[in-house]
Amino acid sequence: MAEGKIIQGPIIHCVDPYSLTVIQNGFVIVDDEGKATNNTRSTARFQIAAVGDAADLHTAKKKFNFAREDLITLGKTQLLLPGLIDTHIHAPQYPNAGLGYDKPLLEWLDNYTYKLEKQYRDQELCKRVFDAVVRKTLDHGTTTACYFGSLFRDSTLVLASSVTRYGQRAFVGKINMTKLAPEDYIETAEKSIEDTLEFVKEVKDIGNPLIQPIITPRFALSVDMELMKKLGAIAKEQNLHIQTHISENKDEVKMVRELYDNKSYADVYNEANLLTPKTVLAHGIYLSEDEMNLLSKTGTSISHCPESNVNLGSGICDVRKLKNHGITLGLGTDVAGGASPSIITAMRSAISASTNLSFADENSKPLTYIDVFYLATLGGAKALALDDQIGNFQVGKSFDAIIVDLDVKSSVAPEVGVCGR
Ligand code: GUN
Ligand code: FE
Repeated sequence: MAEGKIIQGPIIHCVDPYSLTVIQNGFVIVDDEGKATNNTRSTARFQIAAVGDAADLHTAKKKFNFAREDLITLGKTQLLLPGLIDTHIHAPQYPNAGLGYDKPLLEWLDNYTYKLEKQYRDQELCKRVFDAVVRKTLDHGTTTACYFGSLFRDSTLVLASSVTRYGQRAFVGKINMTKLAPEDYIETAEKSIEDTLEFVKEVKDIGNPLIQPIITPRFALSVDMELMKKLGAIAKEQNLHIQTHISENKDEVKMVRELYDNKSYADVYNEANLLTPKTVLAHGIYLSEDEMNLLSKTGTSISHCPESNVNLGSGICDVRKLKNHGITLGLGTDVAGGASPSIITAMRSAISASTNLSFADENSKPLTYIDVFYLATLGGAKALALDDQIGNFQVGKSFDAIIVDLDVKSSVAPEVGVCGR
């Protein structure tokens, strides 16, 4: 007979996009063996069997007839929230977090980022940094992260091991990059494909249902159309997710137009079949109407990375405009463009960025705390096409949650505990 857990206390989550559901005294019943409902896509050992108001707990419990059940009652200062989702983070860049914000994107890449990333031939460095990134993001409540690794297959595999070791849910991508970077930090197109195929296989062979490989061309300036098309074909054949950057910086956008016969950034990716419902693009600050409509039509998501956009002087992304075009959005830290590995900081930055935008444009309305809570949870899950598994406490989904303790007397910062692993 199945065993279960009951968590009782205040619950906050988004049942619907951009709206908040608060259950002052609620419960979640978790089936430890994942058999309570027949959600076949759930990777959960821990599956949500029921959710409701504590007044109905007794009746709800009877349905399951667990052989044994643990009751976890939250303390007066504790809240149960869905695990936070970082839809865009560069694990190898973590040592540079907070450094080098005196240069805009393209110079920042040349002066700081590639110089750091190319050091990840060193396996010891990989292990040390990747373990630290995974532990740090989990400490900040990130139960799911979409990672850029490095150019190197074996190094990015170390990241997959770190993620497995600490039980985070993640997408992990080996970067594809054949040009516009130092000679000792690029690859040939043949090697790029060979290593990508091998990497995808190796990640699948780990056999961890929480990790998936993701196709990761760095951005349109790092690869050419032929390679992007091959990567698009691999993603299609193997039904893989795709991540890259789009329209982050004005000089970058101009260079893309120059390099690709005056095509728009989104058209370039579309020609390569890289825009899919399983694609997440970081930034999207300078997208045209046509580009926004194309992303919406193809079901492509945007990872909004507000802290990075300010640090690199990239610009302010008009999140409401993207939302109004029907684009799915999540939040990203974009470490090390972003200095903080915390999605809670990204939530604050998203509010500040949109507030600043509203000073310059009286028609623009700042994002609310509800909007950013949505982006950090259910929005992120939708952006990563994982919303049938995580993002809120809907019956049949994985129990992927954090407990936030607001007791400022007993800790310096709100404590975050990760559960459901
Ligand atoms: N565009 C291409 N590579 C990068 C990167 O590493 N960080 C950011 N923020 N933008 C990029
Ligand atoms: Fe990035």
